[in-house]
Amino acid sequence: MKALFEVLKPASKDWILASSIDPARLPAHIAIIMDGNGRWARRRNLPRVAGHKAGMDPVRTAIETCARLEIQALTLYAFSTENWKRPRTEVDMLWRLLRVYLTRELPDLMRQRIRLTSIGRLDQLPDPVREELENAIQATAHNRGMRLNVAINYSGRAELVDAVNAIVEEARVKGRLDDLRIDEEAISAHLYTAGLPDPDLLIRTSGEMRISNFLLWQIAYAELYVTDTLWPDFRRADLLHAILDYQKRDRRFGGLSFQKEASAATSESEWIETAGPLAR
Ligand code: FPP
Repeated sequence: MKALFEVLKPASKDWILASSIDPARLPAHIAIIMDGNGRWARRRNLPRVAGHKAGMDPVRTAIETCARLEIQALTLYAFSTENWKRPRTEVDMLWRLLRVYLTRELPDLMRQRIRLTSIGRLDQLPDPVREELENAIQATAHNRGMRLNVAINYSGRAELVDAVNAIVEEARVKGRLDDLRIDEEAISAHLYTAGLPDPDLLIRTSGEMRISNFLLWQIAYAELYVTDTLWPDFRRADLLHAILDYQKRDRRFGGLSFQKEASAATSESEWIETAGPLAR
């Protein structure tokens, strides 16, 4: 966290927020659905692409802040398989922005020792975008800092289908199709995110209460944080607020919290008393 304070003005709003964060309880993996670019533009009577352009600065700030906080992994939802349905000009602009980002930011990613990876059906990307992406992935492959994982042409359902097909294909090649049994570990190990911890915190901007086909398997126990702030307005303070909110949550993973567990253990006889014949 020390690295974050290096860029914050003492006693500023961001400084005060950052000081309230418990460095021992940071999420290992943050995932963000960056939504609201179109609405941001419409409110200003601008074309939608202006919203995407304005969304670039928050991308840079979120990456830098997470890297300085020493978050292990940040996954950004940049383009879903459904986004192909948008007008051609908008889709082309998104590709252009991604290429600009990759060329312009690569030196900064290297300086921050960030390792870039990407998830999605990347073979369907336009050639120049795929090449630029592969180049940046390769250039950062040996960096040991934060993992920046960009979801491009991504669909959570397609990822699960790809994982199951990969398991079946592996079994077929090994001649083990007949006794194939698929379990949770096998699926996790064949997802695009294999090797990454599951997200602890999923942030969605612009207020929609939807998952939008994002990391369907991996977010089983993620804490959700939805803010009305539109993505182009998402500042460092908004990210720090989300982390602070996450640190207030009681994460039980389907079990009981520590206090409740302790009291449950001591009150079993009381429970039998209350439940009466049902419990016997
Ligand atoms: C959702 O807003 C946003 C997107 C589909 C694209 C996100 C892309 C960027 C922020 C820029 C490029 C990203 C990287 C990682 C370099 P929307 O258009 O669905 O907004 P709306 O719901 O208000 O219409």
